Amino acid sequence: MKNFISVHDAHDINALVHKALAYKADPLRDKALGANKRIGLIFLNPSMRTRLSTQIAAANLGMEAIVFNVGQEGWTFEFEDEAIMSGNTVEHVKDAAPILGRYFDVLGIRTFPSLQNKADDYSELYIKQFIKYAGVPVVSLESATLHPLQSLTDIITITETFKEHRRPKIVLTWAPHVKALPQCVANSFAQWINAWGHADFVITHPEDYELDPAFTKGAAITHDQDYALRDADFVYVKNWSTYADYGRIYCNDPEWMLTTEKLLNTNHAKVMHCLPVRRNVELSDEVLDSFNSIVTQQASNRTWAAQAVLSELLANVK
Ligand code: CP
Repeated sequence: MKNFISVHDAHDINALVHKALAYKADPLRDKALGANKRIGLIFLNPSMRTRLSTQIAAANLGMEAIVFNVGQEGWTFEFEDEAIMSGNTVEHVKDAAPILGRYFDVLGIRTFPSLQNKADDYSELYIKQFIKYAGVPVVSLESATLHPLQSLTDIITITETFKEHRRPKIVLTWAPHVKALPQCVANSFAQWINAWGHADFVITHPEDYELDPAFTKGAAITHDQDYALRDADFVYVKNWSTYADYGRIYCNDPEWMLTTEKLLNTNHAKVMHCLPVRRNVELSDEVLDSFNSIVTQQASNRTWAAQAVLSELLANVK
């Protein structure tokens, strides 16, 4: 694995899942793999789970992790080639990334989208510029359109939870939110579940919330949430802003919030969310605090997903 920015970097999803589960069973089984190696975790945006789980994963591999919260503590980066930097940006990624590539053996980058310009966000300029100029493997800690460490975690969690000898029915449902959020988690979950190919996959959302078909192709899509939830084994709850008319909130209908009453329609579905979650806006207390919710298990699995990915990237580090 040279970089980890999408499902296309995971040549065998099940092999990666089983590697992660082996780390979960025995976290220190490769404790010397990353000896004398350093990962720089570069955050242009806030994080709790991604930051801490990746630090723990690196430590389990004997690797030093250094966090740099660029968004709060660093110079503001410029990403456009040939930019005339007479505005607010102070340091070009073309200058900063090669330096980070000298300090670190692997770089992790978190770069959220602007939600202002679809073409810019969907070109993934920021993370691609880091890959272009850093000269070391880059792992996405969530980019403008995707969150691959989260999606790998999600498949790990489904795999360890579902023990029946049939394909699980997995439903990704849109949920209300007070802010316009990126499509990253939903795009990425759809991309990974479709590529995995071991589930009956349904996406449900209000009209006008269609995601980019590049990620959803292969899933059944419906605006009827009750119909989608029927016999579901897993319900993945997530808000996203509009994709077509980019970055807007058209609908904030509280009727889309998942409740225990709606879960009666499912096959005792396990409820997933990447977190952080707005209680009683996206998901009700009664669901989050119920036996159905596996969000804590899911978040704890972030460590094993990160450890599996870092171990693969280390194979390309001299
Ligand atoms: N799910 C997730 O990425 O959480 P953080 O934003 O806290 O890292």
